[in-house]
Amino acid sequence: MARPKIALIGAGQIGGTLAHLVALKELGDVVLFDIAEGTPEGKSLDIAESGPVEGFDASLKGTQSYSDIAGADVCIVTAGVPRKPGMSRDDLLGINLKVMKSVGEGIRDNAPDAFVICITNPLDAMVWALREFSGLPHEKVCGMAGILDSARFRHFLSVEFDVSMKDVTAFVLGGHGDTMVPLTRYSTVAGIPLPDLVKMGWTTQEKLDAIVQRTRDGGAEIVSLLKTGSAFYAPAASAIEMAEAYLKDQKRVLPCAAYVDGAYGLDGFYVGVPTVIGAGGIEKIVEIKLDKEEQAMFDSSVGAVKGLVDACKGIDDSLA
Ligand code: APR
Repeated sequence: MARPKIALIGAGQIGGTLAHLVALKELGDVVLFDIAEGTPEGKSLDIAESGPVEGFDASLKGTQSYSDIAGADVCIVTAGVPRKPGMSRDDLLGINLKVMKSVGEGIRDNAPDAFVICITNPLDAMVWALREFSGLPHEKVCGMAGILDSARFRHFLSVEFDVSMKDVTAFVLGGHGDTMVPLTRYSTVAGIPLPDLVKMGWTTQEKLDAIVQRTRDGGAEIVSLLKTGSAFYAPAASAIEMAEAYLKDQKRVLPCAAYVDGAYGLDGFYVGVPTVIGAGGIEKIVEIKLDKEEQAMFDSSVGAVKGLVDACKGIDDSLA
């Protein structure tokens, strides 16, 4: 059987890291697309030349032509601009919306059967716009944010508790940004919920609150350190987990920006929720009962995303 074809739209920091991970994990052959001439070709060749050393079987091709993504099984979109220090994800809206239009049309015309994972920020609004421009089924278009946000949360918690990251689970809901909703009662160490760990004296409520805030600000913390761009290793690893769940029909339960129509009181809206990812794409939205405080945080997060979607409609008439 032929290897799966994985198209990476955007060959910048995240795109290059994605290509490297796809090759190392032998998930399929890579087509790296970018408007910048030479960048996708150079990165593809560089990674391919690591193949004999790493011992992977994968072909990599760099291109400026959408026809090369024809028949892709998975498209991961990072095209656009990242933020610089002092910028919020929302400041990227206008410029990245235009990019989503050309990318959405390129996918529509060349890879309409692909499972599409958007990473471009501001994530929740961009994945909505990408779906609108591409016209693909909603269950085949989603966004990567929740895995990254919960990975950051898990990392900070494992350091605080001095235990393996493998034994820390975390649960986040809502938009990718300052309004994300980390659910502490569903986040655990080996099944023990965080509020119980506070009672057991493993940490204090103040420290836990500070970790939640650091998680919310996780992207900005990296931007202020790097100064020239935003995070790329952890975002790439997170999107690869989603692509692998789809390609191997793993039925993984993963938080991502998915189209929610009916659950959580939403009628046709992209926001971060727990999902099941398998061969059908987003096969299920997992709806949990929120308490009053969590519901208020979720509503405010949804409200923030709605504001961005409305702003997109104001910029591009075809979305209205
Ligand atoms: N079509 C294809 N590629 C494009 C387009 C376009 N219309 N416009 C820009 N690009 C390419 C750029 O040439 C660049 O190589 O997208 C790439 C983006 O790469 P980086 O600037 O390195 O950004 P990166 O760190 O990879 O982040 C990409 O993901 O997490 C988000 O906020 C982040 O929106 C940003 C995106």
